[in-house]
Amino acid sequence: MPRNAWKPSLKDRLVFALDVDDLEEARQWIDALRGEVGTFKVGLQLFTRIGPEGVRGLMNSDLQIFLDLKLHDIPHTVAQASRGIAALGARMFTVHTLGGTDMLAACAEAIAEEAGRLGLPRPLILGVTLLTSLDEAAARALGFNRKIRDQTLRLAALARQAGLDGVVASSQEVESIKKACGSEFLAVVPGIRPTEAGEKADDQKRTGTPLEAVERGADFLVVGRPLRQSSHPAQTAREIVEEIRRGWQHRSTGTL
Ligand code: C5P
Repeated sequence: MPRNAWKPSLKDRLVFALDVDDLEEARQWIDALRGEVGTFKVGLQLFTRIGPEGVRGLMNSDLQIFLDLKLHDIPHTVAQASRGIAALGARMFTVHTLGGTDMLAACAEAIAEEAGRLGLPRPLILGVTLLTSLDEAAARALGFNRKIRDQTLRLAALARQAGLDGVVASSQEVESIKKACGSEFLAVVPGIRPTEAGEKADDQKRTGTPLEAVERGADFLVVGRPLRQSSHPAQTAREIVEEIRRGWQHRSTGTL
């Protein structure tokens, strides 16, 4: 069984954040965007309302589900929860790197074993480093003496050593993470604001345009409000995928 046989298309690299309250609304967004968006992210907001059964109801062979539940518990519990996620057929999911190396390694081992046992593709495991809602003062209050940037890099390196596939990172952090962890280590980047909406950052502190993020090394872009609030969401999604294509081309031809 290959480590992960998934070859994401450009469209799969655009992840729409299904930050809504019910199944019906989630379905409507999927129907509106599935022509342009390949991956849909179910986070705590939707998961606490629709549960695993609801997620199963959203599953469809032509779309990928990213389960953003940010697991953080003792190694055994996270390993068992990860098995549930593999069985659900999610394509990727998140764990908190602050759970520690043993927890991350137990998660990676359980996921590989369970996916192999079920004959399913192994979901990608992505680490959350320090929440972007923490600033330097908040991190210090928690006892972190390093600068957030250094702490983030350290956690990304630990995640890689423990067998994770990548991390969630801001557009500004991507380059240093790729440098420290290697280009194969995935960077999933939220806080994306399309070029013409660049000035409207909402509550995101460290934003980037789709093109910038991909040129810097982003492998997947997580986009919520710029699509939800667009008057033409499918058109906006098409434009983002086009930027992903250009950024990807620059990266693969080295024309940056
Ligand atoms: O595009 P928008 O700001 O609406 O996207 C927000 C989405 O990105 C949410 O689903 C949020 O959970 C996710 N996210 C984030 N910052 C992180 C990690 C994830 O905004 N550091």
